[in-house]
Amino acid sequence: MERSKTAPVVETRSVSKVYQIGRVKQPALDDICLTVASAEFAAIVGPSGSGKTTLLNIIGCLDEPTTGDVFLDGQSVAGLSQKERSEVRKRNIGFIFQTFNLVPVLSAFENVELPLILLKEPSVIRQEKVQEILIKVGLKDYIHRRPNDMSGGQQQRVAVARALVKSPKMVLADEPTANLDSFTGEGILKLMQDLNQDLGTTFIFSTHDRMVMDFARRLVVLHDGRIVDDRTKE
Ligand SMILES: Nc1ncnc2c1ncn2[C@@H]1O[C@H](COP(=O)(O)OP(=O)(O)OP(=O)(O)O)[C@@H](O)[C@H]1O
Ligand SMILES: [Mg+2]
Repeated sequence: MERSKTAPVVETRSVSKVYQIGRVKQPALDDICLTVASAEFAAIVGPSGSGKTTLLNIIGCLDEPTTGDVFLDGQSVAGLSQKERSEVRKRNIGFIFQTFNLVPVLSAFENVELPLILLKEPSVIRQEKVQEILIKVGLKDYIHRRPNDMSGGQQQRVAVARALVKSPKMVLADEPTANLDSFTGEGILKLMQDLNQDLGTTFIFSTHDRMVMDFARRLVVLHDGRIVDDRTKE
């Protein structure tokens, strides 16, 4: 796929989303125009129900807008086939969820290895990459543990490692610290910040948390499905 070197990592053009629940229409996003450049560290904030998760899901090709389009590296997502879209997601986007979403019967190593298996990376490369990222997130001694035998913070580190192991262009994190105490949450944020600075990975995360907002270099504020403020700190 041809990629433009100068295009933003993400651009949403007039993205709107209306959920249909039976006969009832539930508007969730209204005319969202958002551009995120490479290596940004941006937070989407706003009250419960303002559309944060919906927006992240649409940016991450997990859901489709009702109207409007998303451009990833200048490439229209609407113009892609289902197969191409899932390829883009597998290769370029890492996800971190509020509830970790690890596979309970797999060890930390195996959870982190999964995205590389999906990308059909050879075993030797997988071993190397998984070891390296687990060490980077501070889990050297927990490589063979299963999620249930780890703390919440350790599980979220596994999830961060899983999101980053394929060196995606962009990581989308939906309330990554919501299930962590503030100390552990701050550790996860510092880790994401380091990875953003070291690897130039673009991070877009949603949050309710003041502490998380302080970390973000850019705050995009949603209210009732609209962007009401968009500020980048000096
Ligand atoms: N699958 C769905 N079906 C119907 N309506 C939905 C669905 N998901 C979200 N909504 C509605 O869309 C709106 C935006 O929801 P969304 O989950 O994006 O908000 P949010 O900002 O992530 O909220 P929270 O902070 O509580 O996670 C809300 O009114 C919500 O009720
Ligand atoms: Mg949400």
